[in-house]
Amino acid sequence: MLRTLYFDTNTGELVIIDQTRLPGELVYKRISAPRDLFESIKTLALRGAPAIGVGAALGLYACALRIEDVTPQGFEYSFEKLCAFIASSRPTARDLFYACDRMISAARRGVSVSEKIKLLRAEAFALEAENISVCHAIGEYGEKLIPENATVLTHCNAGSLCAVEYGTALAPIYEAAARKKNVRVVSDETRPLLQGARLTCYELCAAGIDTTLICDNMAAGLMAAGKIDLAIVGCDRVASNGDFANKTGTLSVAVNCAYFGIPFYVAAPSSTIDKSIPDGSHITIEHRAAEEVTENFYSHRMAPLDVKVYNPAFDVTPASLVTGYITEKGVFKNTEISEFI
Ligand code: MRU
Repeated sequence: MLRTLYFDTNTGELVIIDQTRLPGELVYKRISAPRDLFESIKTLALRGAPAIGVGAALGLYACALRIEDVTPQGFEYSFEKLCAFIASSRPTARDLFYACDRMISAARRGVSVSEKIKLLRAEAFALEAENISVCHAIGEYGEKLIPENATVLTHCNAGSLCAVEYGTALAPIYEAAARKKNVRVVSDETRPLLQGARLTCYELCAAGIDTTLICDNMAAGLMAAGKIDLAIVGCDRVASNGDFANKTGTLSVAVNCAYFGIPFYVAAPSSTIDKSIPDGSHITIEHRAAEEVTENFYSHRMAPLDVKVYNPAFDVTPASLVTGYITEKGVFKNTEISEFI
């Protein structure tokens, strides 16, 4: 199985798969400078909520090793400035802020610079290990929701490439396949940046899982034809009432599932849950460059240059459309999620 990122202890660098190059080339990128970390997140070389969180933590540790200020106060000031810079790379996924907050608290606990660095290392590696075990737990709980011979629809990429390994929404599928269940996946291509076509199809085909790619606007037709048994998607942030943000187009999948009576699940690690906001209207939605819509992923023109473009990277699905939240602690209904939170 693919490992999306790791920390090279020999060189003190974060190493990531550059996801902008997939599926054509499997290229690794080494990161140890703040600007590289920021740009990697911004340009989606490092993407998917959990991967952004863990990658930010390991990347912040790599950058911290290179902070030149040797006084504890100066180091802490520089590190917190660095965290604020990295946290400004993308606004929607909670994992990024969760990881930065944990790294800041870790640095503050140390008295000397060397102690601070030790604590930063421990915290970044703890975040990485937690993510791996959370994804495996989601896989085990979610697998039970997949009947034998089922076809699962997914949107965007919430597989091993969105996390350290295994993923969230695809973890139940990997678990079902590991248990020799017959499972098929239908992957929305996920315009505009094609995370479904480029990334989900790449990793599922590499894992030998029966996968069919569709354009986003074909999902309702397949549901009407009775070809989809359930949908599982990932999420970037869950509000206290269970409303959640995920890749743009997720709301359409949820609405279609409700219309056709198809179970709609969201894989939601607790690091994505934001108790500070009451509902989805408080989630900041990232808007991205018009060119992502007017050009295709390989920069071929798809629309006139002067057309107005609306390009939110995420949309918010109301809790009422969610059949269940698959968390590392079990599966919760939308009527139970506020208690779990
Ligand atoms: O813009 P991206 O590719 O970072 O968006 C990713 C998604 O929307 C994923 O579905 C989400 O991060 C969940 S991954 C567990």
